[in-house]
Amino acid sequence: MSPEPQKLNQTMLDTNQLASFQQSINNLSPLQLAWASGYLAAKAENVTNATVPAAIASAAPTTLTILYGSQTGNAKGVAKSLAAQASAQGLNVELKSMGEIKPKAIKNITHLLIVASTNGEGEAPDDAIALHEFLSSKKAPKLDHLNYSVLALGDTSYELFCQTGKDFDLNLEKLGATRMAPRLDCDVDYDEAANTWSATVITQVKTLLSSEASVSNVVALASVNSTEELYTKQKPYTAELLLSQKITGRDSAKDVRHVEIDLGDSGLTYQAGDALGIWFENSVALVDELITELGFDAQEKVSAGDESIALGEALKTKFEITQTSIQFVNFWAEKSQATNLLDILDDKSAMREYAAIHQVVDVVKFAPLQNKVKLNAQEFIDALRKITPRLYSIASSQSEAEEEVHLTVGLVQYQTEEANRQGGASGFLTNGIDEGGEVKVFVEHNDNFRLPENNETPVIMIGPGTGVAPFRAFMQEREATEATGDNWLFFGDQTFTQDFLYQVEWQGYLKSGLLTKIDLAFSRDQAEKIYVQDRLLENADEVFSWLERGAHIYVCGDMSRMAKDVEAALLTIIATKGQLSAEQANDYLKDLRNAKRYQKDVY
Ligand SMILES: Cc1cc2nc3c(=O)[nH]c(=O)nc-3n(C[C@H](O)[C@H](O)[C@H](O)COP(=O)(O)OP(=O)(O)OC[C@H]3O[C@@H](n4cnc5c(N)ncnc54)[C@H](O)[C@@H]3O)c2cc1C
Ligand SMILES: Cc1cc2nc3c(=O)[nH]c(=O)nc-3n(C[C@H](O)[C@H](O)[C@H](O)COP(=O)(O)O)c2cc1C
Repeated sequence: MSPEPQKLNQTMLDTNQLASFQQSINNLSPLQLAWASGYLAAKAENVTNATVPAAIASAAPTTLTILYGSQTGNAKGVAKSLAAQASAQGLNVELKSMGEIKPKAIKNITHLLIVASTNGEGEAPDDAIALHEFLSSKKAPKLDHLNYSVLALGDTSYELFCQTGKDFDLNLEKLGATRMAPRLDCDVDYDEAANTWSATVITQVKTLLSSEASVSNVVALASVNSTEELYTKQKPYTAELLLSQKITGRDSAKDVRHVEIDLGDSGLTYQAGDALGIWFENSVALVDELITELGFDAQEKVSAGDESIALGEALKTKFEITQTSIQFVNFWAEKSQATNLLDILDDKSAMREYAAIHQVVDVVKFAPLQNKVKLNAQEFIDALRKITPRLYSIASSQSEAEEEVHLTVGLVQYQTEEANRQGGASGFLTNGIDEGGEVKVFVEHNDNFRLPENNETPVIMIGPGTGVAPFRAFMQEREATEATGDNWLFFGDQTFTQDFLYQVEWQGYLKSGLLTKIDLAFSRDQAEKIYVQDRLLENADEVFSWLERGAHIYVCGDMSRMAKDVEAALLTIIATKGQLSAEQANDYLKDLRNAKRYQKDVY
């Protein structure tokens, strides 16, 4: 808690004490000063616990708490850098995931910065769910002693843009807290905006805290975890693609690849449940098609950030051209004055839909510029979003794959009137590089998708399609650690013969007894469609009895339909087999989630 202003004078050093204190720290190096600051803080705490009056205890610098809610690591990354900057400015910083604090503990915080992403359809990321819910519930306390600011991460292609950050901001305001700086809502290329916001907010916090005389003049010893990772999203490792092998049959409607990447001597480590970030390059053919359509010269220099590079290279490596943003559709509507775009300009959801099914080149093709309209390459580039890496659930355990990392990549592809279009990253991993080629990667740790600590705990894994990827990693890990807990897999796809991913491996695990049970749902192998949620319902008794004996339940894959249908099936099972009302079943599932026994990795 910050000291109350009127008590400050009692807690300060008198002139003589100050002079002698300053003399004794004069020759210390920054590191020694940092150590000394920690030493003094600890000493104050010890003494406080013993006999010293409370006024002295309250002289310890006020803590700036930074809480993040992050599903895939971006908000965590922003929060870490915010914490490092604040700490370098002499603030006493505590950085935590929202999942690491008890929601009620918010009462004890006086200065708070929140960095929160939005997940699902406007939902809070897993680690933020409890606090998010608590702050909008009747149980939420008055927070009129709290100063806060929110940085929200999101993606404008979603209907509920930055919803979680907005919720935190508004709920804290409602509870009486004081907003130190306006909320910043960031789109997918958030780096610059987040940096500027961080610098501004830190200055504000510093001013506020120094008026409360609680900023240390020395480099503060922040409780920021400073173990620098060698390779990160910003500094990826250049790995070698070892293998990209199609694992769906010749007649499958899908092209799914088993991808193997060599992490060499990078020292990169991962755990079952983590994801791999892939920086990709756009296809040269697509770049050429776009440049030809626009009548530009591929060699023309453009500035991309602080670099001046050829337009062709910029479109290949720096900008998104397979995903289209609403902002680009807006820009192109203005430029082209094409009626197909002007007609939807005021309809946000129509714009979102249009952007989702037209790559940049198709927007341009279907709305050509009038003859007289002038457009230069720089202006065009400036209307595009910077390229962002894609994540893939890791499909191997390092205990088995060692310096390799395996992925299960579904190629995104569809046919337009003009051409076959492919996704940026999945196209790159499938057709864009040869085996032996280079791919820039980083590990995105995900503590919200982890095997139980106790090896005897049973697990239920629900992963249709590429959602099966992390469960291959789970099984390898369970085997390597000789885990004795039961393992039950629900897998599904279109057909048994064409789409049974890793069939031989699952059969091997069944035979060895590592996999206790497998239930399969091939939707197109019979007249009526059967999905994993139907298999869950068919096995309701046993699913419930596994839950009752402590099973952890995992869902991975399609977010928009599968994960919702599976959740509905689980609620039905819990309500009917546990003889609970709908509300009680909801609470049962919520308890599972809070106990980290119900975890999702959906996209
Ligand atoms: C945590 C996490 C884990 C993931 N794990 C996996 C995994 O294990 N395996 C996996 O395959 N993926 C996984 N994904 C998804 C993956 O990250 C990519 O989103 C996916 O591969 C598509 O990326 P892309 O670059 O190939 O396509 P993009 O370039 O992002 O998309 C291409 C564009 O095509 C559009 N489009 C797609 N289909 C159509 C259509 N039918 N008609 C018109 N337009 C269309 C899209 O809207 C998009 O604008 C995961 C995602 C997350 C967040
Ligand atoms: C499955 C999924 C669902 C998402 N849903 C939303 C959403 O509803 N609204 C939004 O603004 N952004 C949404 N996003 C975008 C993320 O908020 C954005 O990518 C953010 O940078 C992720 O931060 P994180 O890595 O800290 O979770 C979604 C992203 C994913 C992968």
